[in-house]
Amino acid sequence: MKILTTILEHSSVYRLWQSPFAAAKFAPVVTENDLATVRRVLDVGCGPGTNAGHFVHAEYLGVDWNPRYVEAARKRHSGTFTVADVTRYHVEASDRFDFILVNSLLHHLDDESTGRLLKHLSQLLADDGHVHILELVRPTKGIIAARLAGWDRGSFARSLEHWQSLLESTFDPVLIQPYSVGVYGIALWNMVYFKGSRPRQ
Ligand SMILES: C[S@@+](CC[C@H](N)C(=O)[O-])C[C@H]1O[C@@H](n2cnc3c(N)ncnc32)[C@H](O)[C@@H]1O
Repeated sequence: MKILTTILEHSSVYRLWQSPFAAAKFAPVVTENDLATVRRVLDVGCGPGTNAGHFVHAEYLGVDWNPRYVEAARKRHSGTFTVADVTRYHVEASDRFDFILVNSLLHHLDDESTGRLLKHLSQLLADDGHVHILELVRPTKGIIAARLAGWDRGSFARSLEHWQSLLESTFDPVLIQPYSVGVYGIALWNMVYFKGSRPRQ
């Protein structure tokens, strides 16, 4: 598993591995939102800029701690990309975002780090903005889905109920949509799309 992790940390290998699935993972965001109206995007754990192409019309900031991914993202996309550990990185609260994307990051973080990060993100959300979280749901059955969840290198794939309670402890839910990503009708990843707004005080 360590060798696989090292290989996947190269941006070209990661993109090759993810490219057939990136659009399917992001599909509920496209279906449920009018991305043309988005003004300011924060992409937390942006990888090699996997989703940056959807936001060429907007002001976009991507943050990832892998310098190889960030370098690759800068070559391919026009936004701003920063190398940082998102659990420590602090964006000025005056720079609020109407679209905060967290795609397949939180299963790399334990509950405590996730809780802290979500709290910080809630302070960065514009009043009319939303957080969009796409996450891996821990497979309860299916050998393929269980293997692939492991290959994605995160140690914290959670059950749907666990995601729901973790995310709703910081954001008011607007939408919680379980879905799966796969080929020929075989589910490779069980996912959940959570769209949330700033909690009402
Ligand atoms: C499964 S990838 C998802 C990348 C991208 N969001 C996508 O949809 O393809 C998880 C990403 O989170 C990044 N990551 C994990 N922990 C991080 C941390 N503490 N700070 C910043 N980035 C982190 C990894 O480098 C990787 O790019």
